[in-house]
Amino acid sequence: MLEPVELSLSEMGDLAEIIPGPEPELQVTVHPIPRFGEPPRPRIIPVCEPTLTGNELKYVTECIETNWISSIGRFVQEFEAAFAAACGVRYGVACANGTVALHLALATLGLGPGDEVIIPTFTMIATANAVTYLGARPVLVDSELETWNMDINQVEDKITPRTRAIVPVHTYGHPVDMDALNEIAERHNLWVIEDAAEAHGARYKGRPVGSLGHAAAFSFYGNKIITTGEGGMITTDDEEIARLAWNLRDHAFSEERHFWHKFIGFNYRMTNLQAAVGLAQTEQLERFVEARRANAARYTERLSKIPGITTPPEAEWATNVYWMYGILVDEKEFGMTRDELRQALARRGIETRTFFIPMHCQPVYFHQYKGERYPRAELLCKRGMYLPSASSLTESDIDYVVGAIEEAHREGR
Ligand SMILES: Cc1ncc(COP(=O)(O)O)c(C=O)c1O
Repeated sequence: MLEPVELSLSEMGDLAEIIPGPEPELQVTVHPIPRFGEPPRPRIIPVCEPTLTGNELKYVTECIETNWISSIGRFVQEFEAAFAAACGVRYGVACANGTVALHLALATLGLGPGDEVIIPTFTMIATANAVTYLGARPVLVDSELETWNMDINQVEDKITPRTRAIVPVHTYGHPVDMDALNEIAERHNLWVIEDAAEAHGARYKGRPVGSLGHAAAFSFYGNKIITTGEGGMITTDDEEIARLAWNLRDHAFSEERHFWHKFIGFNYRMTNLQAAVGLAQTEQLERFVEARRANAARYTERLSKIPGITTPPEAEWATNVYWMYGILVDEKEFGMTRDELRQALARRGIETRTFFIPMHCQPVYFHQYKGERYPRAELLCKRGMYLPSASSLTESDIDYVVGAIEEAHREGR
């Protein structure tokens, strides 16, 4: 039977200091500042929630009424075309989730055992797992504090004769400095697959993410800027990647005979029902991005006045979409630790999440990277948390959250 990989904190040595404490218990609270037009009522402010206020119900109803609920139907193709257009590329390949979008994209490149793929250590585990599923090895790079993304200056040191690809992650909605990365990739003849799971609508020097490498992978999980419940998509301008991805997504059926397979394919299809939601969401992408950026501006304006709080970055060449509004908490200056602040907010009905735990600290990957240290990723893990970030967040929600942080700061001093 499969056994979990256990990793005790003592085995981790001083790395154990960055591992977050237990999740705080969220208390339902009556917020003194009600939502506009609503009486005060007990509720929580979730870290994220979908905004389904467009044509979602209309399009899903059409699927039911016409009996097209599986992976054939007009919405899959229309969603692919609309989302690809929003990313400024020719092809979109819809699939079951963001993890398999990454796996599929990497699979089209023919990667396998012995190959290496460079990724940031500070990411969600799907980035590393997609590489591992292929039998290839994720090679880790530290973060930079200017963008919280992979430090491009450290990439070249990690390239070996076995390196085949780089997967930059546009962390929390902030694009990677792609010109610098692509220049390195071109010089070493490497593929670049963007992990854009968190960055729908973000722009790099005015160009949309999803169009900045050979291909990109997006997630449409329920907490993403646009969602299909579960879902994902590859975007690319490369016809061969798109053609292979469509084929591998659907068991690699051959065109010459139906049950005739020349690749080990997958069932990674998206349903027409999901795509119906996805099309309706894509129609609202610009509005959602505007809302996220306005929410972030309101948070930053007030939070930057609180000692010990670092607000999220935005490089001058970037349009950050703030998928999650992240902050760093400096314990000494703020007066309490990140975990204590999370407890204080949970008592006031405010849900938060800690930042990612880097790959080299994960029980499943720890032994593979033993002895490797990535100090900036570790700092982000130790101090970082994100605040409620949904597109539907109201100004009074934000003011309530900031007020709670100010109160916690006063308590902590
Ligand atoms: C950076 C990153 N990559 C990949 C994924 C995987 O997406 P999914 O959850 O849709 O499989 C996520 C999910 O949140 C993510 O944050």
